Amino acid sequence: MASSLTQTQTQTQTIHSDPPQPDPEYDLLCSDQQQQQQQQQQLLLSSSDTSPFSLGSLTRCLAGESHIDRAWAHWLKLGRPKLIVAPMVDNSELPFRMLCRKYGAEAAYTPMLHSRIFTETEKYRDQEFTTCKEDRPLFVQFCANDPDILLEAAKRVEPFCDYVDINLGCPQRIAKRGNYGAFLMDNLPLVKSLVQKLALNLQVPVSCKIRLFPDLQVTINYAKMLEEAGCSLLAVHGRTRDEKDGKKIRADWNAIRAVKDALRIPVLANGNIRHIDDVQKCLEETGAEGVLSAESLLENPALFAGYRTGEWVVGSEGCDKVGKLDQTDLLVEYLKFCERYPVPWRMIRAHVHKMLGDWFRLHPHVREDLNAQSKLTFEFLYNMVDRLRELGTKMPLYTKDSHEDRVLANGLATGNV
Ligand SMILES: Cc1cc2nc3c(=O)[nH]c(=O)nc-3n(C[C@H](O)[C@H](O)[C@H](O)COP(=O)(O)O)c2cc1C
Repeated sequence: MASSLTQTQTQTQTIHSDPPQPDPEYDLLCSDQQQQQQQQQQLLLSSSDTSPFSLGSLTRCLAGESHIDRAWAHWLKLGRPKLIVAPMVDNSELPFRMLCRKYGAEAAYTPMLHSRIFTETEKYRDQEFTTCKEDRPLFVQFCANDPDILLEAAKRVEPFCDYVDINLGCPQRIAKRGNYGAFLMDNLPLVKSLVQKLALNLQVPVSCKIRLFPDLQVTINYAKMLEEAGCSLLAVHGRTRDEKDGKKIRADWNAIRAVKDALRIPVLANGNIRHIDDVQKCLEETGAEGVLSAESLLENPALFAGYRTGEWVVGSEGCDKVGKLDQTDLLVEYLKFCERYPVPWRMIRAHVHKMLGDWFRLHPHVREDLNAQSKLTFEFLYNMVDRLRELGTKMPLYTKDSHEDRVLANGLATGNV
């Protein structure tokens, strides 16, 4: 059974708050590293927070166990996952994560959750965050601009996850209005306080997902600041805040490499993972511990098990053959997960369009029928899949022998790259 969280409060749609003002004296991107470390140690030692978690952190600090050692120990304990489902609003929900895990994903992020609404609204929590015991390792991602509210939200999910992640990369207008995501890149003291608050008060480690600054050295200093503030794992999306179109603009893997080389905590690379060969190349070029994939997984949730869509067969290395799966099979498996772990219909509808996009381009009338349904049912969707299959179209996913072998008899992929 999926577990969700409960507590009553009023629901609100407003995404707005007044963030703390930046310290005008504070110029993080030029600051001296040693001084920052001293400030950080000072902060740890003088923390007035009395929760048992902060005392735990303090004790570990006094015992000389470094945050970096603990970050690596945790990563090793999780089995060093390399193939990871990226956070996607309305798209990386439990049934989709479970489908990707079945086909090779070794860890997954939840969609971004709004920390204030999460603390205030039971309905939001119940709908937007569900999980189950097989849904691990799990990153739960929040957007936030208030450290106390972020901590309150994080405490609610802490028992169900392996990292609490802070979204520092969302470039959308809604994030600008709400002052979170990539717009916090304009207020680094606030970013630092968010990370420190969680690092000092949670049992699980804190991770962050960032975008690049246009200047590489500024990006590196930013990443180091996050590490020093207590971030235990950093995912780097290799595009800037203004580079929104991931299909047109290539992610900068060299910049990710530079960040990886400058940090001591585990680093993950994000951007341009379209098929399994990209995974290998990205790991080699960036030196990252693992990769995150988003858009391509939506079309092909079996990407990490070595399956590729027809688009990526021409010119791929080695010899691809028609695999045992196509996107209709994956959609049916996804719908079965949805029956088991209910989610809002808008999420299901979004996945149907993404997974069957190629099929709908050939049979637009089937898409029109889908769009005409103001209310969906599983019966309608299963019938729609049958109809597409009966139209006789063959649109297989392709694989190399070695990859198909990765899906084990129990349905779980070994996922070794
Ligand atoms: C539908 C969709 C929703 C997304 N939602 C989030 C989100 O909630 N949090 C986040 O950090 N990034 C979000 N992203 C960005 C992705 O996690 C990822 O950084 C980006 O798409 C680049 O990866 P890709 O090249 O594999 O698509 C979203 C992307 C997509 C396509």
